[in-house]
Amino acid sequence: MTTRTLRCILTGLGNIGRSFLEILPARAAHLRERYRIALQFVAVADSSGCIVRERGLDPAAIVACKRDKRGVIELAGDDIRVVEMMTAVQRLPADALLEATPTDIRSGQPGLDLARAALQRGVHVVMASKGALVVAFDELTRMSDWSGDRQAPRLRFSGAVAGALPSVNIGWRDLAGGEIRSIEAVLNGTTQVMLTLMGEGKEYAAALAEAQRIGIAEPDPTLDVEGWDAANKLLILANAVLRQPTRLSDIAVEGITRVTPDDIQRARRDGGNLILLAKAERGPDGRYALSVGPAAVPAKHPLARLGMQEAGIVYQSDIFGRTAAFSLEDGPIGTAAAMLRDLLSIAPEIAA
Ligand SMILES: NC(=O)c1ccc[n+]([C@@H]2O[C@H](COP(=O)([O-])OP(=O)(O)OC[C@H]3O[C@@H](n4cnc5c(N)ncnc54)[C@H](OP(=O)(O)O)[C@@H]3O)[C@@H](O)[C@H]2O)c1
Repeated sequence: MTTRTLRCILTGLGNIGRSFLEILPARAAHLRERYRIALQFVAVADSSGCIVRERGLDPAAIVACKRDKRGVIELAGDDIRVVEMMTAVQRLPADALLEATPTDIRSGQPGLDLARAALQRGVHVVMASKGALVVAFDELTRMSDWSGDRQAPRLRFSGAVAGALPSVNIGWRDLAGGEIRSIEAVLNGTTQVMLTLMGEGKEYAAALAEAQRIGIAEPDPTLDVEGWDAANKLLILANAVLRQPTRLSDIAVEGITRVTPDDIQRARRDGGNLILLAKAERGPDGRYALSVGPAAVPAKHPLARLGMQEAGIVYQSDIFGRTAAFSLEDGPIGTAAAMLRDLLSIAPEIAA
């Protein structure tokens, strides 16, 4: 059997994009032997610009450049050209776009235009960024195999909803044929860290400062603590898994800003816990009520046992019963790994 080279465009070379390149060398033989594929990067982009080499760029040189905190266009020269990122996505012979630029949930950019352009010309898309999915889920899925058209390019985004946690895949793929009664999930790392620390007696401000110190919270953590990051992820699950067209305004959102250490200690008294719960519950009319907010869960609830840096999801289905998954992620590798699993899941179609 021959090995098929998958030509990839990688946009975004930060924590996730760079980690993606870093995890590949140790897996190259496995990808060749098990999947009969080799990955080639024909273009990569960061905020400095986009570089192109049709015969493939050197991932190690890109990683070294980004570790030195340099712009990737510094690698240009000889047969490496600088082009507009959009031009590369629109024109370069490529099999897949791997999208890991920052998430902007108002405009969805730059990921939205990149994903549109790729899907329009039949290039498969794997997204770690959420913005485009939050803003234009319906449009992007209509352009992809989610529309039901088996010939349409693939769109995968399992890493966009809590990184390594197989939140989307379980609901969409593994519970196929069942009727999902509810989803309960902890999807935001910053608030899980803060609530854990507050349960140990730290005040809100100190817990937030600690989450920032260990690098899990944004310098401006409003999206985390006010519940919007979890709501964005729930929106993607509602659209993708529950197939209920959903906008952010359809979700009742409350953050953890009013939670006190006392609230958490009370919830923990009998072995339970207080979590920022993202929830979808099917009503008698078949529609799901969607919410994000602090919730006390009893000791027997699977999400009560989550550790400080864990995320988790619990599905209830009529025929599959209860299905739960948890992940402990230390850093960005888990999301990079999710991009790899997405790419491998569509590799047979690409190779064909
Ligand atoms: N970090 C996580 O654990 C995690 C988990 C799940 C999903 N995600 C999502 O994955 C995406 C990437 O996250 P990250 O942590 O890797 O972010 P990051 O470290 O900030 O990296 C973002 C990358 O995008 C580049 N970039 C910024 N603006 C750009 C533009 N206009 N055009 C092209 N490139 C641009 C940056 O360039 P420079 O290198 O020049 O700054 C950087 O390489 C985000 O959408 C995030 O929401 C992250």
